[in-house]
Amino acid sequence: MTATMTTAGVAQAYDRWAPIYDLVFGPVFRQGRASAIRAADRIGGRILEVGVGTGISLPGYAAGSRVTGVDISEDMLDKARDRVARLGLRNIDAIRVGDAEALDFADQSFDVVVAQYVVSAVANPARALDEFARVCRPGGEIIITTRVGAEQGVRGAIEKTLMPITSRLGFRTDFPFALYTDWIATRGDVELIEKREIPPLGHFSLVRIAKRENA
Ligand SMILES: C[S@@+](CC[C@H](N)C(=O)[O-])C[C@H]1O[C@@H](n2cnc3c(N)ncnc32)[C@H](O)[C@@H]1O
Repeated sequence: MTATMTTAGVAQAYDRWAPIYDLVFGPVFRQGRASAIRAADRIGGRILEVGVGTGISLPGYAAGSRVTGVDISEDMLDKARDRVARLGLRNIDAIRVGDAEALDFADQSFDVVVAQYVVSAVANPARALDEFARVCRPGGEIIITTRVGAEQGVRGAIEKTLMPITSRLGFRTDFPFALYTDWIATRGDVELIEKREIPPLGHFSLVRIAKRENA
């Protein structure tokens, strides 16, 4: 990963995306979001969705799951609040500003932490993953949909070349899966339990990481 991203720069980029986000990124990520929500609802209980954005995933959660959504972009969150009000979603406990790298929640506050198309948009992904593990209860899960870069070959070269442009737009194209496995290797309390390709084009995966019962 070459280009540097800052949290303030990412927030500004998504403030700019907010008016057209659902149009551009709604359909393309639909299947991935549905898979992540299904996985989260299987556990249920208290769900934290980090990088909730415009709240596009919120209507998909089961009525019995209690969802809190955080994001760093106020303009994206305004859309999420409108959606919750418009659709009368009664299982959404809170929609508020929050930084994935410094979550404002006590340890083990949630049964599930969901991050959809977010980790590759965060300035310091490993710091965000540490926070996901901290607020997740033992026995709970961290459920992520993520870009997975090609690392090698023509696609890998293109992804590296695009990084200076896409990082200004608020996401990375060059994002090796090793970022997750290296992070997991630094900790004794989490394990990778699933990695599955999701559309579109095999560039994205659903990743489930369990927090060990005895953590
Ligand atoms: C590609 S969008 C994904 C939005 C939504 N999860 C979806 O499925 O469409 C990435 C989101 O992550 C948010 N984000 C980026 N860095 C963040 C951080 N440090 N803390 C919280 N949210 C962040 C952005 O503001 C943006 O809303």
